[in-house]
Amino acid sequence: MGAKIFRYIAYFAGTLLVIVFSVIGYLSLMLPNVGPAPDLQIEITEEKVEHGRYLANHVMLCMDCHAIRDFSLFGGPPEPGTLGAGGEIFDQSIGAPGRFISRNLTPSALGDWTDGEIFRAITSGVSKDGSALFPIMPYPHYSQLSEEDIHAVIAYLRSLEPIENELPESKPDFPVNFLINTMPVKADLKAKPSREDVVEYGRYMITAAACTDCHTRMERGNFVGEPYAGGTEFHMPDGSVIRSSNITPHETGIGGWTKEQFVNRFKAYSDSVFIPHRVEPGQFQTIMPWGMYAGMQREDLEAIYEYLKTISPVEYNVETFQAGRY
Ligand code: HEC
Ligand code: HEC
Repeated sequence: MGAKIFRYIAYFAGTLLVIVFSVIGYLSLMLPNVGPAPDLQIEITEEKVEHGRYLANHVMLCMDCHAIRDFSLFGGPPEPGTLGAGGEIFDQSIGAPGRFISRNLTPSALGDWTDGEIFRAITSGVSKDGSALFPIMPYPHYSQLSEEDIHAVIAYLRSLEPIENELPESKPDFPVNFLINTMPVKADLKAKPSREDVVEYGRYMITAAACTDCHTRMERGNFVGEPYAGGTEFHMPDGSVIRSSNITPHETGIGGWTKEQFVNRFKAYSDSVFIPHRVEPGQFQTIMPWGMYAGMQREDLEAIYEYLKTISPVEYNVETFQAGRY
């Protein structure tokens, strides 16, 4: 009798091990399954480069994440000379399951990538060598944009000054080092709505800007809060905690704001009127890239406001800053 039970247990344990190893094998060998990079040759025009410059610096903020942000200054503006060169670290202190390092996007690094390979990285989250990217890089959002906008960004990246910058590799924690291969997405590109269709246009712009990634509460890499209700914690080196605001149309969010107040909140940080001041330990600091977003066109910010007015209001009070004990 006892021997029989033992045999069953051995059988189950054996089967379980086979399953576990097959899953790990599958995750590390078979995926990501988004197909080959598209065959693509983007014709570079001045207009495309300018549009890409706008998107990359003021809407999609490629140039903010792919730079070193200087958090000794208000809002953490990118250090001059690092824009596009990568090196910003996204780790456990901001709730990421691992240590992810933004990469060099200048021609020093992407020079030998095809346009199709860059396109696939931006819209599907797969690098040139077929490895998966962690979605701190907001490709799940970029996968829903228009082909023209992505092409413009690529045209702009091609125009950047090359900056040599060798960077360490990203290191996902267990089990994300296996699960990461399930994260890339097949691009599901959409036409860009016309500006007359304000709410849909606003939804498109807020997707391009990936506002929800910071404004939806995240724990250990998973979204756990209501969309746009805020509360994600960012732990700063001085011990301060920054939390993203509720930007749903509830009184505890932006319910009481007019469109002008909303737009002006951004425009107050335009480089013509605002020079980021030095932030001493314990003083109010933010991770919201106000300075870069301030360059967004008024119409685009207005459309984002109109879209936010249509989402469900969520009652959620957020204390956005808590000074550290330094
Ligand atoms: C919120 C921060 C963030 C934003 C915004 C962002 N990226 Fe990234 N990007 C990253 C990180 C972090 C990685 C590395 C991910 C990893 O190692 O898994 C990355 C990886 C990449 C890669 C892969 C490079 C390689 O060597 O494999 C490309 C290409 C890229 N980003 C382009 C862009 C472009 C273009 C934009 C704007 C349209 C953009 N990124 C916006 C954070 C960001
Ligand atoms: C990198 C993370 C991050 C991104 C991306 C981000 N935000 Fe924020 N945002 C924050 C944090 C943190 C705060 C709270 C601190 C502050 O006021 O600066 C904030 C504050 C705000 C506020 C002020 C709310 C108030 O009550 O004062 C508004 C409005 C806002 N964000 C809108 C947006 C929109 C719209 C986008 C996309 C275009 C966006 N944010 C993208 C992190 C982010």
